Amino acid sequence: MSKKLVAGNWKLNGSLDANARLLSALAALPGVEMAVCVPYPYLAQAGSALQGIGLGAQNVSEYTSGAYTGEVSASMLAEFGCSYTIVGHSERRALFAESDAVVGRKVLAAQAAGLVPIVCVGETLAEREAGQVMSVVGRQLEAVLDVTGADAMARIVVAYEPVWAIGSGLSATAAQVGDVHGGLRSWLRAHDVDADGVRILYGGSVKPENADELFAVKDVDGGLIGGASLVAEDFMAICRAAMVKQN
Ligand code: 13P
Repeated sequence: MSKKLVAGNWKLNGSLDANARLLSALAALPGVEMAVCVPYPYLAQAGSALQGIGLGAQNVSEYTSGAYTGEVSASMLAEFGCSYTIVGHSERRALFAESDAVVGRKVLAAQAAGLVPIVCVGETLAEREAGQVMSVVGRQLEAVLDVTGADAMARIVVAYEPVWAIGSGLSATAAQVGDVHGGLRSWLRAHDVDADGVRILYGGSVKPENADELFAVKDVDGGLIGGASLVAEDFMAICRAAMVKQN
C-alpha cells in the first residue's frame, strides 16, 4: 500500500478568519498524504493557502448541470482545485436522506470529473448490536459497485465511519476497526475489485491520543478526521502518527 491518507472533514465549521489561522498552521509532511475537505464557499481560500496538501469537498451533486438549485457539480469542484470529495457521509445519509443509490450516482459523477470520491460507510449502534455490520457496509458498497463497476471501484477511497463513533469521543477499538477493515478488503476482493490498491480510512473520534494505535491496525490506510481537524496542532499530530506507520 502507498502512503497513508489523512483527510480532515471540517463539516459545517469555519469563517474566513478562523480558516486563515488554521490553514497557515498546516504543513505538508513527507511520508503521508494530507487533505482537507472544506465547506464549498471556502474552497478558493483553502486552495490558495494549501501547499502540498490536497483539497476536497464534503459533498457533490449527482448532476452535471441544469435546473438543480443549490447543487454543486463535480466539474465545479475540479475547477477550484479539488482532488477529493467526500460522498455518502453518514450525516448526509441520515440528515439529508441520501440513499445508497444517490451515493452511487454521486460517486460516478465525482469520478467522471476526475475527483477521487471518499465513500463513507458505517453502521449505527443498533445495527452493530444486531450483528449487521458487514451486511450494512456491504450493502452500502454494493450500491457503488452497481454503478461504477469493479474497475472504477478500485479508484475510490473507502472511509469506514461507524456512526456511533462519530463526534462521540469514543472511537471504535483497534480490534473492531481491524475486523471491519479486513472485512471490507475481503468484500472488495470477492467482488473482483483490485482491493490492494483501495485505501480504507477509519473515521470516528480519531485524536492524537489514539491515532498511533488506530494507524497501526492492518488494513487501515489512513483516517478521516472531523473535530480534531479543526485544531491545527491535533490534525498535524494525527498526520505525524500516520507518517511513521506504513503497513
Ligand atoms: P469526528 O472525528 O469528529 O468523530 O468525526 C468523524 C467524521 O465524521 C469524519 O468524517
